[in-house]
Amino acid sequence: MGNGNLLSARDINRFETDRLLSTAQNFREKLQSGHINNSLQGKLVATLFFQPSTRTRLSFESAVSRLGGQVIGFADAEVSRAGSNWQEGLADTAKVVGSYADAVIMRHPDVGAVREFAKACPVPVVNAGDGDGALSEHPTQALLDLFTIQDQVGKIERTNILIAGHLTQRCSHSLLLFLAKYEGVRVFLFTEEHAKLSPGEEEELRQHGLDFRYVPSLEEVIARMDVLYVPGMKEEASYPVPDAFMITEKKLERAPAHLKVLHPLPRGKELPYGLDKSSRAGYFLQAANGIPVRMAVLDGILND
Ligand code: CP
Repeated sequence: MGNGNLLSARDINRFETDRLLSTAQNFREKLQSGHINNSLQGKLVATLFFQPSTRTRLSFESAVSRLGGQVIGFADAEVSRAGSNWQEGLADTAKVVGSYADAVIMRHPDVGAVREFAKACPVPVVNAGDGDGALSEHPTQALLDLFTIQDQVGKIERTNILIAGHLTQRCSHSLLLFLAKYEGVRVFLFTEEHAKLSPGEEEELRQHGLDFRYVPSLEEVIARMDVLYVPGMKEEASYPVPDAFMITEKKLERAPAHLKVLHPLPRGKELPYGLDKSSRAGYFLQAANGIPVRMAVLDGILND
């Protein structure tokens, strides 16, 4: 990982990615068998969340505790000096928190803010999601997405993946960068014109050799897919989710029996509750996989 940090999917190569997924599998087996692992005993991890989170923050904190470490931090910057009352700069916050903890897990609404923080921080920093739109990322979400694909489809290489929703979502960017590390993956993108990847992101993915193309509808390709990944949509009161992006069982009728629907959650209207009873619904298992995957990330950062 780049200088001990995990700020982007670009920070880890294919070998390191596979090693993380394999370590996560070991941790999951240990969790299931009740095996205690104390590899973070004596380590302190700070979680600094400048934006709301349920899954990322709590699964990181759970992962630290399950590895015998301890957590400090805040779930709302407004209770700290970095909030709007004082607006202490990121560099000062980084220097101070970096002297209190052995690693920092950070989410921020601005693209690049976690990287700026990491430059001033004396301990490793993990990007738990920064901003939205071009160049935003959520690398540990993408790692648990990959882990779930491997688990549910049996492989990552040579899978067909349809991503249906807004590609401006940070989870999409990190997932595409990770998928580009795997041979023979074919990615189909169904989105709205205003929510496509930026030209720079498309160029980077092409340079990495990712086979991707835009498609005009979900129905056109669903019969050939292994995974339907729904990154969600930027939903506003004045802008309801168009019917074409609502995932219904009817739209999945022609999909192969093994196709799984994944979603980083929280859901919007694009993912109706009616789908939860379907055997295709993989999103709660995906969220649960956040624990072993984040255990692997922490173990790698603090012990390797
Ligand atoms: N998927 C995800 O990042 O969820 P949270 O916003 O709840 O952390």
